[in-house]
Amino acid sequence: MNRERLTQPIAEGESIILLDPEDDKEFFYKMRAKGHIDLHKGKILHAEIIGKPEGAVVRTSKGDPFLVFRPTLFQFIMHMKRDTQIIYPKDLALILFYADIYPGSTCLEAGIGSGSLTLALLRAVGPEGKVISYEKRPEFIERATKNIQLLLGDGAPPNLEVKLRDIYEGIEEQGIDRIILDIPEPWQLVQNIAQSLRPGGIFVGYLPTIIQVKTLVDALREEKRFTSIHAFEALIRDWHIEGLSVRPDHRMVAHTGFITLARRGEAP
Ligand SMILES: C[S@@+](CC[C@H](N)C(=O)[O-])C[C@H]1O[C@@H](n2cnc3c(N)ncnc32)[C@H](O)[C@@H]1O
Repeated sequence: MNRERLTQPIAEGESIILLDPEDDKEFFYKMRAKGHIDLHKGKILHAEIIGKPEGAVVRTSKGDPFLVFRPTLFQFIMHMKRDTQIIYPKDLALILFYADIYPGSTCLEAGIGSGSLTLALLRAVGPEGKVISYEKRPEFIERATKNIQLLLGDGAPPNLEVKLRDIYEGIEEQGIDRIILDIPEPWQLVQNIAQSLRPGGIFVGYLPTIIQVKTLVDALREEKRFTSIHAFEALIRDWHIEGLSVRPDHRMVAHTGFITLARRGEAP
């Protein structure tokens, strides 16, 4: 989404966050001309939101105020429809920085799943870059495409190429800057990844269990072209700050996945 669009009033077809200023509770909706929202505090017609600028106050039928915003990418990913596990924002943030995903780069990922990583990559590579996504199940391509279009507007982004293909049959592209795999057995592709990444390119594996991480790291070490191999996980602990009650939240997302990184050089 570009800045020009973001400064326009909310339009039909866009997704919005409705925020209750009393407790910061968020609600997520797609705007339709004849739609309406039923909340415990009353009803709001979509038509009362369409045409408003971001940050505007709208009132329910009972007079309670709510604020209207476009979702941030973080909020969109947390609220969008999912048919698969997704990579959560806490891990996306680290993948983008640790893998040094830069504007203009060409990134290859698998599988597209619900499109969470794809959206993060599209934003990071920008219009000069490219995202190539392998996915073996057409229904997930459909889900991800709907999510991408809901956030970015109609029409496929010109810098996204989606391939309906089992990636274990081989990565066809060469000279890729970054490869990020969120599939169960990335170690099957280690030689192919080394072949497809340009020298200096970075590989990321995203895996839910440490047994998978160990298998991947062993395979990366055996393929002598990889260096700087390391694995980590991210734990984010939110804090409750109210009056004298200043303490960590009682609940947190303890485990999502492990991030494994490796850099492609020449075999020493
Ligand atoms: C956990 S989901 C990916 C979620 C995605 N990264 C996201 O953030 O929304 C794993 C996806 O990989 C796909 N997949 C699994 N094995 C694959 C393969 N061999 N080739 C292509 N896609 C594959 C699955 O169909 C599924 O959509």
